[in-house]
Amino acid sequence: MPRALVFKDYGGPEQLALAEVPMPSPAAGQLLVGVRAAGVNPVDVKTRNGRLRDFMPLDLPAVLGREVSGVVEAVGPQVTGFAPGDEVFGSTPMAGFAEYALLDADVTAHKPPEVSFTVAAVLPIASVTAYNALAQLQLGAADVVVVTGAAGGVGVAAVQLLRDRGVRVIGTASEPKHVFLEKLGAEPVAYGEGVRERIEALAPSGITAIIDTVGSVALSDVAPLLADSSRIVEVAETAVAAEFGGLVVNRDRPSATLIELAELVVRGVLDPCVTATYPLERAADALAHVETGHVTGKVVITVP
Ligand SMILES: NC(=O)c1ccc[n+]([C@@H]2O[C@H](COP(=O)([O-])OP(=O)(O)OC[C@H]3O[C@@H](n4cnc5c(N)ncnc54)[C@H](OP(=O)(O)O)[C@@H]3O)[C@@H](O)[C@H]2O)c1
Repeated sequence: MPRALVFKDYGGPEQLALAEVPMPSPAAGQLLVGVRAAGVNPVDVKTRNGRLRDFMPLDLPAVLGREVSGVVEAVGPQVTGFAPGDEVFGSTPMAGFAEYALLDADVTAHKPPEVSFTVAAVLPIASVTAYNALAQLQLGAADVVVVTGAAGGVGVAAVQLLRDRGVRVIGTASEPKHVFLEKLGAEPVAYGEGVRERIEALAPSGITAIIDTVGSVALSDVAPLLADSSRIVEVAETAVAAEFGGLVVNRDRPSATLIELAELVVRGVLDPCVTATYPLERAADALAHVETGHVTGKVVITVP
C-alpha cells in the first residue's frame, strides 16, 4: 500500500504519522498521479489544527497536502487531454503528502519539461493566489504596492509578478530577509513598530494598493496609508478584509492559470523560491518548518 502523511485527529504535530493508506481510485474527472513533489502551505497547518474544521469538515484520519506535481498513473471517466505517463501539476482537494494523489483534471496542467517537479509543485497555491490578487487590483506602472509578508510563499510570487508589470513594490519582512527581497526587485521594510513611517519615507507621494499575506497584525499597521481601502486585497484572514474595507482574494485556479505561471517560470520571470526540501519520510518536519510562520519562499516534500 502507498504511504502518506496522515493526521489522526485535529491537534498538534503529535497527530501526524507516516502511514500506509489505500491506493486512491480516480472518479469521474480525476487523475491518479504518482506524486514526485508536494508543496507545503499554512493551510495544511490550519487543517491539522482544526481551524478550518467548520468550513471544511473531514473524515479522520485524513491526509494533508493541497498541491502536487507528478506523473499520471491512471485517468478516471470523462477525462480528456491527459494520459498515463503525462507529467502534470495541480491542486488536490486534500491528500498531496503521499506517494499517490488524486487531482481534478480541470485544475491540473501539463508540466513543461523545463520546469522541475519541485518548482511545479509549489505553483498551484501560493503563486496562483498572488496571481489572483493582482488580477483583482488591475495594477500598472504608476502603482506603488505594499506587500506584507513579502518573503513568504505568496509574497515572493506577488513581488515578482508585480515587478514584471513595472509596479514599484515595497515589501515587509524581518531584516535578515531584506537582501533576499531586494534581489527579487522589492524595496524591503522591517515590519513592527514604525513600519508606517518607514514606508512613508520610501514613498512620500503615497502608495496605491496593499496585498496583505499576514493578517490583522500586519494590515492594521499599513492600512491607514491608503485613502481608498478597496485597494486592499487580503490573502491571509478572510474576516480581516471586512474589518478594513478591503477585498478578500478571489481564489480561481483553472489549468489556464497554471500554464501561464509555468510559462513565466520558463521565461525566468517567476521563481517561487524553493528554499527547503524534505523527503516524504520527513514530511512532519516540513510541516513544522511552515508552522514557524517564518518561511522564506516555499517548502517542498519530495517523493522518490
Ligand atoms: N486564501 C487563499 O487562497 C490563500 C492561499 C495561499 C495562502 N493563504 C494564506 O496566506 C497567508 C500567507 O501564506 P504564505 O504561503 O505566503 O505563508 P508563508 O510562506 O508561511 O510566509 C509567511 C511570511 O510571513 C512573514 N511574516 C510573519 N509575521 C509577519 C508580520 N507581522 N509582518 C510581516 N511579515 C510577517 C514571514 O516572514 P518573516 O520571517 O520575515 O517574519 C514569512 O515569510 C497564510 O495565512 C495562508 O494560509 C491563503
